[in-house]
Amino acid sequence: MLVNDILDTQKVELGALDVHKRDSALRPVVEDVMEMMSLGAEQQSIRLTHDVTAERGFIDPRLLKQILVNLISNGIKYSRPNGSVHLSISMLNAKDLRVAVEDDGLGMTPEEVERALTPYFRVHAKDHPTIEGTGLGLPLCKSMAEAMDGRFTVSSEKGVGTRIEILLPPEPEVEWVSTGAPLVAALSSAA
Ligand SMILES: Nc1ncnc2c1ncn2[C@@H]1O[C@H](COP(=O)(O)OP(=O)(O)OP(=O)(O)O)[C@@H](O)[C@H]1O
Ligand SMILES: [Mg+2]
Repeated sequence: MLVNDILDTQKVELGALDVHKRDSALRPVVEDVMEMMSLGAEQQSIRLTHDVTAERGFIDPRLLKQILVNLISNGIKYSRPNGSVHLSISMLNAKDLRVAVEDDGLGMTPEEVERALTPYFRVHAKDHPTIEGTGLGLPLCKSMAEAMDGRFTVSSEKGVGTRIEILLPPEPEVEWVSTGAPLVAALSSAA
């Protein structure tokens, strides 16, 4: 299955993460991700929705796509009957880009969240042995978000649901260096 191929490839790439952040349109990213995930959601009777109010972000589109595929895949897998998964992308304080994936599924205790972020640890492996996975997706998402200078937070409540939020900073502003006397003075004193 396509999604599994993608997940596997990412794991191979874990050792050598290439980051190319640039001003990027978000709509194509979201459209690709939704197209990849909607059939899986439908097959499990999970309602997959999205709400994107930001147009562009200073991101690596390939990495963001991989993060979203992983997080939505988790939302679909660790769900309850007739559950829902929601992706939202918006601007926070007209500055940071806020990407969130939220579900109303199995949820985790704070201790379980902590362990879920450890490679290979699978919180629901015992209670839900038929759900497959390797336990790498979530820590990988955190690494990929941080590689884009993002802040990755998991909020979860057992039996209620999980929300994963990534805050991504804007493109740094170019600082125009004055070519006047102070710079020349600074350079000659440093020499
Ligand atoms: N949205 C979620 N709701 C509840 N539990 C979750 C959620 N996302 C992750 N978990 C728990 O955290 C564990 C680790 O998640 P992670 O994505 O790293 O691994 P996985 O889904 O088991 O395998 P894979 O490597 O294929 O992603 C999962 O096994 C699951 O128990
Ligand atoms: Mg996973």
